[in-house]
Amino acid sequence: MTNKITSMAEYYQKYQESVANPEAFWAEIAESSFWRKKWDKVLDWRFDGPGAPMVNWFVNGKLNITENIFERNMFTRKDQVAIIWEPNDPKEKEVRLTYGELFDKVKEFANGLLKLGVKKGDRVAIYLPMVPELAVAMLACARIGAIHSIVFAGFSATALADRINDASANVLITSDGGFRGSKKIPLKDIADEALESCPTVEHNIVLKRTEQDVKWTEGRDKWWHDVIEGVGIDNEAEVMDSEDTLFILYTSGSTGKPKGVVHTTAGYMVFSEYTFKNVFQYNDGDVFWCTADIGWVTGHSYIVYGPLLAGATSVMFEGVPTWPDAGRFWEIVAKYKVNQFYTAPTAIRALIAQGNEWVTKHDLSSLSVLGTVGEPINEEAWRWYHDLIGGGKCPIVDTWWQTETGGIMITPLAGITPTKPSLATLPLPGVQPILVDPEGNELKGNGVEGILCIKFPWPGMLRSLYGDHKRCHETYFSMFKGLYLTGDGAKRDEEGYYRIIGRIDDVINVSGHRIGTAEVEDAINQHPKVNESAVVGYPHEIKGSGIYAYVICEDLSEDEMGTIENEIKATVTKFIGPIAKPDKIQIVSGLPKTRSGKIMRRILRKIGEGDATNLGDTSTLLDPGVVEEIITGAKVEVKR
Ligand code: PRX
Repeated sequence: MTNKITSMAEYYQKYQESVANPEAFWAEIAESSFWRKKWDKVLDWRFDGPGAPMVNWFVNGKLNITENIFERNMFTRKDQVAIIWEPNDPKEKEVRLTYGELFDKVKEFANGLLKLGVKKGDRVAIYLPMVPELAVAMLACARIGAIHSIVFAGFSATALADRINDASANVLITSDGGFRGSKKIPLKDIADEALESCPTVEHNIVLKRTEQDVKWTEGRDKWWHDVIEGVGIDNEAEVMDSEDTLFILYTSGSTGKPKGVVHTTAGYMVFSEYTFKNVFQYNDGDVFWCTADIGWVTGHSYIVYGPLLAGATSVMFEGVPTWPDAGRFWEIVAKYKVNQFYTAPTAIRALIAQGNEWVTKHDLSSLSVLGTVGEPINEEAWRWYHDLIGGGKCPIVDTWWQTETGGIMITPLAGITPTKPSLATLPLPGVQPILVDPEGNELKGNGVEGILCIKFPWPGMLRSLYGDHKRCHETYFSMFKGLYLTGDGAKRDEEGYYRIIGRIDDVINVSGHRIGTAEVEDAINQHPKVNESAVVGYPHEIKGSGIYAYVICEDLSEDEMGTIENEIKATVTKFIGPIAKPDKIQIVSGLPKTRSGKIMRRILRKIGEGDATNLGDTSTLLDPGVVEEIITGAKVEVKR
């Protein structure tokens, strides 16, 4: 496999080269892709100035990402398994799709989309469970140049509608329902509710999965199997420009409105393949399993695009780690002899709590590399993962990256970079991190802590926020001129290794998923009895961070006092989805506000953490008495 670093000496050499001449470094990597027409210039960029950010990689190159997955791999991998799909219910048979079979399905569905009149540049929203057709749908969009916008199937009707409308999608792809552990999720019903307020959607393509009854809107709704009826598998890929948009993926920010992160074709393609091969040190014939949902960026880059571009065999799992029992992950590892296993610290912590016997009864000897993503991994979880799951012999790659970065940025190279628990270690060649103080001064040398930024473009970076380029500049490029702001704090230790500390903005990392506090507040405030709310994160044993909501309600009766917490949770579930449900709700009579009306979240965060010993300067508060009341009524034990 080309473009793979195999030693630390080579890592340092490549790193130096990538900083000294980034264009030459990336051009060499991009050479191994399949181009309809090579680029004229490797990179054109500015983070500031008119129209910024402007980042163009492989300028004027022409290609299609699916030709790089299929046509490029077809001579050698036609009969190799591309996707192994493990159903929710272990009693149902798995599906193995070879590159040849997957290619045919992608071309067929692409033809179905074309038959409906879907064109290059159209936005196609996808709201599907973790079934092979999810991968088929996204690749079919890429094949014809339509822009996919995948919405995690745990989001509510309102959240789905917001995302469809923000992108003015004209097609939705969903299913009758989805299986999740012992539950059936009525996805079509949720989609129907969303579509009531989505005037741009002309076609709703419905896959049969659970066979449950669904309501039908003639004209708009079409069964997946009817869409592909008779269309055949002859399909020429649409020729895309390097900078044509490949997909939009929504993520939370500091305001209530989710951001549609825009990724483009060539840069994302080159970056996802390069990071996949190097970080996991994938070898031909290995079986790779990333447990994420494709609804999140991790699934986009490391279930579908990265592995398939690299010609890997990628496992896709429909279910949950604890059903039918807490040994499910390890049963699957043993069943498919998984070599590289990539999951989130929150899943590891949840499984630790279930006991070791669920692990030890399965044969995990195939494992050679373990990975984590999405949040800092605490040392205890790291040790359990390393010692019990990896049998002490598998390197752990703690990979730091974001929806916006498109792929892994700071990480060990498996088996090459010496690791330390809880440290993401070193930047990949081609990635230039920098730590700055709040004034934007660079913190040089080792043994420093600051705000993590990136000072040079990398191919996988976001190009815009859909429909709001100005917001993209404001969010990521305006705080420190000339730098991409990650929103994370980090430490660089004495050896130059990075430890990610966590978000510096109003975003909470709940079970590795980003939830904006403003988004949760907006949802809580929809409850008719709620006047105001303030949401902060607090340390949570399993989830990493939990959601703590301080809520002001208008005159509640005693009965209402008894039900309000559940009602608030239900409201959040309705407006966002169960992932954003507050773990703790405290009804308060006031919030700590400055005289100018700004909520001092710092104080609420400290109380949520159970520490009122050092609340800092509270003299600017309008009513300092309110703090005392909040401490007394806190849902955690608070040290004073
Ligand atoms: O705070 C960092 C955390 O997750 C954020 C990105 O979230 P999202 O865009 O949803 O993507 C998650 C999967 C890539 C980051 O800003 N994060 C991600 N990886 C790590 C991490 N925090 C610590 N260590 C990591 N390895």
